[in-house]
Amino acid sequence: MKAPTFMIEDQLNDECERLETLAPIITAPIRHHVFVCTGKSCSAVDSAAVMAAFDQELRARNLLFGKEKKGKNPKGSIVLTECGSVGFCAVGAAVMVYPDGVWYAKVRASDVPEIVERHLLNGQVVERLALMQLPVESAQPELC
Ligand code: FES
Repeated sequence: MKAPTFMIEDQLNDECERLETLAPIITAPIRHHVFVCTGKSCSAVDSAAVMAAFDQELRARNLLFGKEKKGKNPKGSIVLTECGSVGFCAVGAAVMVYPDGVWYAKVRASDVPEIVERHLLNGQVVERLALMQLPVESAQPELC
C-alpha cells in the first residue's frame, strides 16, 4: 500500500527547492548582517571608508557572503550592506550588527578590524563604540 502524501509537504518541498535557486543565501550559514549607514551625515565623516574597510576585512577572512565571481564567498557567514540614515546623524558613522541589535556610533575605518575580530568572530560587543542595543527576540522560525 502506498504511503499517504500530504499536499502541503509537497508544496513546501517544491517551494524550498525553488527558493534555493532564486535566493542561494538561504543555504548559506549566515550569522550576522552588518549595516553601514551611507546617509548624508555619515558620508560626511567618510562612512564609505568604513564600508570599504568592512568589505576588505571580511573578504580577507573569507567571511563575506556573496557571489564567487565577485570575490565573495557563497558560503560566507556575514552579509554587508549599506543603509540610509538611522538617526545617528550627529554621531556617525553608524554601523548596526544584527541579529545582536548593536548600534555602533562614531565608527571609523580604523575601528573595523576590532569590530570584526571582537564582535563578529568572538561575540564581544566593542563597548567603547556601542551606543545602543535593541532587545533581541527569540529565535526565528526555520522556513526551509
Ligand atoms: S546619516 Fe547616518 S545616521 Fe543619519
